[in-house]
Amino acid sequence: MKLNNLLILALLISFLFVGCERVKKVIEKKEIPKITVQEDLNAEKMASDLWRKIQGEKYWVNWKMWPGKEALYTGGREPHGALLTTYINEPALKTFIDKREQMQPGAIIIKENYMPDKTLVSITVMHKIEGFNPKVNDWFWAKFEPDGTITTAEKYGQTLILAGKVATCIECHSEQSANDYIFTSHLREGVSEAVKVEMEIPDIEKMAHELWNKMQSENYHVNWKMWPGKEACYEGKEPHGAFLTTYVNTAAHEVIMQKKEKMPPGAIIIKENYMPDKNIASITVMHKIEGFAPDAFDWFWVKFAPNGKVMTEEKDGKTITLAGKVAGCIECHGKQTSNDYIFTSPLKLEHMY
Ligand code: HEC
Ligand code: HEC
Repeated sequence: MKLNNLLILALLISFLFVGCERVKKVIEKKEIPKITVQEDLNAEKMASDLWRKIQGEKYWVNWKMWPGKEALYTGGREPHGALLTTYINEPALKTFIDKREQMQPGAIIIKENYMPDKTLVSITVMHKIEGFNPKVNDWFWAKFEPDGTITTAEKYGQTLILAGKVATCIECHSEQSANDYIFTSHLREGVSEAVKVEMEIPDIEKMAHELWNKMQSENYHVNWKMWPGKEACYEGKEPHGAFLTTYVNTAAHEVIMQKKEKMPPGAIIIKENYMPDKNIASITVMHKIEGFAPDAFDWFWVKFAPNGKVMTEEKDGKTITLAGKVAGCIECHGKQTSNDYIFTSPLKLEHMY
């Protein structure tokens, strides 16, 4: 193949990857825009989508404010407002809970910038989008007028829209590159206990640790009953052990015996997972805690190593702690919504499979 053909092929392929939206725009405009213009178009659309998303979520009602910051706090520096209110969505909040060094993809930080007289002048947003701009931590930057119009700036006689990989935002925020380009506070420090209580952030590790201690102090091996109808070391399925022993505390046991539909708050189910050679591999536990996870029947999930340490899992290059609202557990056990997320046997008598 000649060099020319190769170039055309490369162009064609790159168009395939550009996605329908941008290609459509190119065709409508009947011109081949330069890369910069194309990037602008895309950033503009992404910014409009972002604005619509945050309005739809009513962030000012439904999101938390930056941990430890009140509405209209002072100390804002140029180019931001004299008074600031900063909101974060749930993925951003998780960074604090997990004490991560970087926000995870999907994290959004919204900062409302006010004049000294409390007039809202602009809304600056950072949105982490995986793969968007890997060299500078994947932040999508945007500045909006209070009505949602994307702010523009004049530079070298050109009008730039302040959305996308905005050089001015990145340059100044680079000062904080060790803190994921964030100024407001240090991510690694997490949040203080007082803020945790105020924000109702549960300390998952602590909860898991307390649960383990409770299991040990109640000496469940001796004092709890096994799941009615199941013996020690019965055969199990993936992803749990080849052999299982399942214990229930009194609250859980009563529900099973009385054939009630749902476990009450306080119910605990402990499943010991054994390998084919009958060595113990892990201990998986479900603990119902009122209000802990209302959209997933309030179960607290945890997978302990035999020594009581909370186990972790590598997924997409990240370490996931297997405690709390563990997505993997919830997804699979979610097949059993009509049975309180429980597999081992139907709770209610009429409830035959
Ligand atoms: C000259 C430096 C500078 C520039 C330029 C700048 N920022 Fe900031 N930014 C800051 C500082 C300092 C803070 C901390 C709050 C404050 O003092 O205003 C901040 C805070 C933020 C925050 C809250 C999260 C954090 O980092 O603490 C967001 C969101 C934000 N800026 C977005 C933007 C966007 C979008 C742009 C570009 C349109 C931008 N910033 C341009 C200095 C800058
Ligand atoms: C791919 C599906 C799947 C995943 C993922 C999964 N489980 Fe299970 N789980 C089961 C099945 C099936 C059973 C029934 C016992 C068996 O056959 O292994 C079960 C049983 C249990 C039980 C006994 C109560 C019941 O539901 O019957 C507990 C406790 C438990 N799992 C905890 C966990 C925890 C904690 C996690 C996450 C760390 C998890 N499970 C992840 C499928 C799954």
